[in-house]
Amino acid sequence: MADGTAKRMMQQREPRRIVSGATFDEDARIDLSVRPKRLDEYIGQKRVKENVQIAIDAARSRNEALDHVLLYGPPGLGKTTLAQIIANELNVPIKTSSGPLLERKGDLTAILTALEKKEVFFLDEIHRLQPAVEEVLYPAMEDFRVDLIIGQGPGARIHPFPLSHFTLVGATTRAGLITAPLRSRFGIVHRLDFYEPADLLIILHRSAKILNIEMDEGGAEEIAGRCRGTPRIANRLLRRSRDFAEVRAAGRITRAVAQEALQMLGVDEKGLDEVDRNLMLALLDKYGGGPVGLGTLSAALAEEEDAIEEMYEPYLMQIGMIDRTPRGRVATPRAYEYFGRDLPKRQPRLF
Ligand SMILES: Nc1ncnc2c1ncn2[C@@H]1O[C@H](COP(=O)(O)OP(=O)(O)O)[C@@H](O)[C@H]1O
Ligand SMILES: [Mg+2]
Repeated sequence: MADGTAKRMMQQREPRRIVSGATFDEDARIDLSVRPKRLDEYIGQKRVKENVQIAIDAARSRNEALDHVLLYGPPGLGKTTLAQIIANELNVPIKTSSGPLLERKGDLTAILTALEKKEVFFLDEIHRLQPAVEEVLYPAMEDFRVDLIIGQGPGARIHPFPLSHFTLVGATTRAGLITAPLRSRFGIVHRLDFYEPADLLIILHRSAKILNIEMDEGGAEEIAGRCRGTPRIANRLLRRSRDFAEVRAAGRITRAVAQEALQMLGVDEKGLDEVDRNLMLALLDKYGGGPVGLGTLSAALAEEEDAIEEMYEPYLMQIGMIDRTPRGRVATPRAYEYFGRDLPKRQPRLF
């Protein structure tokens, strides 16, 4: 057991947000080393995989660029991974950018005009594009053209500039925020879902093998059951459990080791972390089970509204703890039960 490991564990007691998108450097590196590179290594998401495979085969046999692809779903489910796999399988280069990074039209135009034929352009967080920048994408996607404006004032002229036939792969955690004109320009649209436990087990064993971690079935089951159906979190909990196993259990992740490690991290039996619990307890105790508005919850928890909507709520809704209603968020009977609260006598109309 290295000193460094114990020290890392101490530091890692601090952050209680297992869900967070921001990773430790170490985790980011590990994410890369275990990230599947080919479609047959991409576990689960059967329907998406089959459809993507067919589209890739068809594009290859016609020797054309693949249709534009939109991938959406909560963070950590494999959108970036799939975008890179698509480029690998097509045997074409990939360029990557992100909605908030493209501040001006010119930023996007510069990337588009440099794309090669059939190249993949991966645009992450596509829902966060500025409207003016997004408009550049319309003719680019549809007619492979950008309109350059030459000159200024009344003498300015629009000069159409042809682009190579490229493939845009857009990713977003918020499909609802994609505008209709943008969405309609994607030929292939797929939603990624939370993973089944059986798939998570395969992912965990695969990662353990790559990272040279010893883990038995009980250990894998424990992590698979508490990772919110999310491969990124599964890999992160695997790594945290390994740290714990090195310090306390001769390096082997068993069920007991995983349980203890996850408990230390504040991850409960359903995979909820401290922020989830604070959210649910605020909803249950402070706001009488709701309905309560997103803004109010956000203020009560000192969490960004976006983070609540993108990272916390999707899983809480998936496991049936919370409902979104037009009047706000409400706790479900299951939430009352799980947190040991009595159901109120007069039920809100919603159940
Ligand atoms: N289908 C999958 N099979 C195996 N591992 C996966 C799969 N999807 C995601 N992962 C793992 O989860 C990590 C996070 O995936 P990523 O593509 O970055 O998610 P997103 O872009 O949706 O936030 C990847 O580094 C990879 O190790
Ligand atoms: Mg991503």
